[in-house]
Amino acid sequence: MNRSYQDALAYYGIEGAHPGSLGLTKQLLQNEAIGPKTRLLDAGCGTGQTSAYISKNYPCRVYAIDSHPEMVKKAYSRFEAEGLPVRLRQSSIEHMPFKSEKFDMILAESSTAFTTVPKALSEYHRVLKKEGVLLTIDMAARGLSARAREEVRRFYGVHEVLTPEEWTAYFKEAGFRGISVLKTSTINEELASYDPGRLPANLGAQGSMPSPVYDGIMKKHQQISMVYGNQLGYCVFRVTK
Ligand SMILES: C[S@@+](CC[C@H](N)C(=O)[O-])C[C@H]1O[C@@H](n2cnc3c(N)ncnc32)[C@H](O)[C@@H]1O
Repeated sequence: MNRSYQDALAYYGIEGAHPGSLGLTKQLLQNEAIGPKTRLLDAGCGTGQTSAYISKNYPCRVYAIDSHPEMVKKAYSRFEAEGLPVRLRQSSIEHMPFKSEKFDMILAESSTAFTTVPKALSEYHRVLKKEGVLLTIDMAARGLSARAREEVRRFYGVHEVLTPEEWTAYFKEAGFRGISVLKTSTINEELASYDPGRLPANLGAQGSMPSPVYDGIMKKHQQISMVYGNQLGYCVFRVTK
């Protein structure tokens, strides 16, 4: 069976598996109005680090979904161990088990790029209330050759490797307005501005046995990051319904 990059993240229980990790999440949330009546969805929650942080630090109601069974298991264990009232479901982002206009805010950290993007964005739009906010942190590329784009696409198992402009076009198509790019950065820019005091993604946090297959996948991830560090990076969007 072919193992994917996401299987490797799930196997090692890598938390904060998005550019900027929890530090960027905290910064983004500081600028939002989140109160006791806010319903917030962490879409593609992975091991649940962000959901847990929000649940502990904000008075809102936190919902979390992820399609990967191993991620859901790890997120569930985390919420249970910490006694957190996060409502967790195993579900794909493209077909969410929620009624329309349920959420005030959706946070999607490094998850939307792995979906069928137009379908995911239209689902976010459906489940958000009017004036609701969607914050996404996602892979974005600029200046990759067609061959390199294909290599990146295949390795990460994504349908498309999008430029910031292509992301913007998809947000518009899905009906979002107030589309702001809060940040764009290449991998190399990110490394150059690395703050050692900031929390890194947590590698192998859950005490998994070493695995040659998953180690190989993570090495390939590092190799791609080094080779395409000037073209590949991420983009943070804040859009409203
Ligand atoms: C790079 S990880 C990021 C996880 C988490 N947001 C974080 O920052 O640590 C991507 C996550 O998105 C989830 N995911 C990918 N495609 C998905 C989909 N179509 N529906 C739901 N979750 C998905 C994966 O299972 C994985 O947990």
